[in-house]
Amino acid sequence: MCGIFGCVLKKGKAAPLIHAALKRLEYRGYDSVGEATLYNGVMYIKKDQGKIDDVHKIINLDDMPGNIGIGHTRWATHGAPYKENAHPHTDCESKIAVVHNGIIENFFEIKEELEAIGHEFKSKTDTEVIPHLVEEDMKRGMPLIEAVRDTLKRISGSYALAIISNDEPDKIICARNDSPLVIGVGEEGVYCASDITAFLPLTNKAVIIENGELAVLKADHYKIWTISDWEPVKKEPEKVKWTIEMAERQGYPHFMIKEIHEQPRCLRDTLRLQDMYLDLMATFLDRAGEIFLVAAGTSYNACLAASYMFSELAFLATHPVIASEFIEQQGMAVNINSTILAVSQSGETADTLAAVDYARIRAATILGLTNTVGSSLTRVSRVYIVQQSGPEIGVAATKTFTSQMSVLAQLALRVAKIRGKVGHRQIEEIESSIKQIPEIAEKTIKKNELKAVEVAKKLKEKKVFFFLGRGISSATAQEAKLKLMEIAYVPSIAYPAGESKHGPISLVERGFPVVFVCPKDRTHKTIIGNIMEMKARGAIIISVIEEGDEEIKTLSDEYFEIPGKLPEVLSPIAFIIPLQMLAYYMAIEKGLNPDKPRNLAKSVTVK
Ligand code: BG6
Repeated sequence: MCGIFGCVLKKGKAAPLIHAALKRLEYRGYDSVGEATLYNGVMYIKKDQGKIDDVHKIINLDDMPGNIGIGHTRWATHGAPYKENAHPHTDCESKIAVVHNGIIENFFEIKEELEAIGHEFKSKTDTEVIPHLVEEDMKRGMPLIEAVRDTLKRISGSYALAIISNDEPDKIICARNDSPLVIGVGEEGVYCASDITAFLPLTNKAVIIENGELAVLKADHYKIWTISDWEPVKKEPEKVKWTIEMAERQGYPHFMIKEIHEQPRCLRDTLRLQDMYLDLMATFLDRAGEIFLVAAGTSYNACLAASYMFSELAFLATHPVIASEFIEQQGMAVNINSTILAVSQSGETADTLAAVDYARIRAATILGLTNTVGSSLTRVSRVYIVQQSGPEIGVAATKTFTSQMSVLAQLALRVAKIRGKVGHRQIEEIESSIKQIPEIAEKTIKKNELKAVEVAKKLKEKKVFFFLGRGISSATAQEAKLKLMEIAYVPSIAYPAGESKHGPISLVERGFPVVFVCPKDRTHKTIIGNIMEMKARGAIIISVIEEGDEEIKTLSDEYFEIPGKLPEVLSPIAFIIPLQMLAYYMAIEKGLNPDKPRNLAKSVTVK
């Protein structure tokens, strides 16, 4: 998730406006920045790696001529956060400049094709294929707008992009597919941006660009068309009543609840990962001796869930290990046949990196799953995958957890294919279910948010909570526990339900809240028994169930329903969502700030 901005002014310099707008978009990505402006037939470009303020101190982002320009603040997905990978990207003659937010899935084959006919690429990004494709079409005499439209038909993936060209220096072309894009209509000019934040101080008149639409911006007007049928689209600007701060959260009161609502999009983006990296990592896992899944916090809970996925789908035994205990618990067993799959959204957690370093010294193979390109974990991994969730601002991980599990499930499925242990029909079933997850997540949020508010209100005085699940749902229970403790400061205990009767049940008395995670899988019957055990001792039963599960519904005092059927190994991705929302609304009920929980940090870089 990057931030893009463009402006065409009636008069005055565009660069200072672009710089200021990128600052307001910096929460979307902050590992490199760049601008391009046009003046008297010359394209001016300034870009570098690093935070905007640091880059500005060195290259002065305001000092570029011209009343038209585009800019970008980056969250790296393809190509490390180095200067050459910073946007804008240009064609061979630097006459066309592009800024892009999203993922071009078929960039690799297009790049090979263009290199074969003499194009030279300066970066490792997916984006750079766009200006070169436009260049090819314009060389064939196409005007900029047609060349852009033709290019958009050629690429596949997600994009919000803005393009300028020396040959047509009075306009910006911008277009959208799956990444957000809005136009701002002001007295002094017309703007385009990843979100309203960027131009709110300049104008509160906004036009939302929908998927599959392209717009041409000039200093005093804009025109929109559909990309596929080239139909003109009439849209009047709407007035926006937001403060800047509100806009950064896109109207949500906190980043955490915004990020919970972003999960469907993030899950869709995990379905756009490059096959070659997933296959490569799956091959390493298939050939590995023993496999340790190493992580901290929420990432560890994703590893716990993954150990069920690898066993169930690929008949592959894996050992989830809490990073800070890895050396003590498994250290002496690590050797050249060991493989470490380290999972860390930040890629910078010291405990996880220490475990990885320890294993590397013993010649183990290191694989990495992270959300941060260029992070330390990517630099020590033999193969790594970037999960594409975009920056997560809320300290408590939400969207990165569900995306981690989606990637780990895809990995397990690929190992299963390599090993041929599971029948084609089952593999196809899981594959189609993985594709349905974004939609199920969307429905789950809609169906359960108000219920989460209600349950939080009812149970906010409770001093301690139990979270129970069987099988892979015990991992869901662990994560739900962590969320309630992290942001609502409610002491919570999570246990595999079967184990709860070997001790923890002693805590249960009348009115004691017990949350059960119970998808309709092989454990459904047995977990009903556990519910009865708790109910018999007067516990308040809160259950997360599949829609229409009347049996558990009747046993529950409160329940959250998951619309849609998911195979057992994928259930945590949907079943955790109502419990993320319960924790969030419990924090709200208690007057706490869910984004900045006490004593915690987004990434702990000390051991
Ligand atoms: C903690 C964060 O500091 O680190 C948690 O507060 C997170 O949200 C944990 O799950 C692990 O972080 P990472 O970046 O290694 O996944």
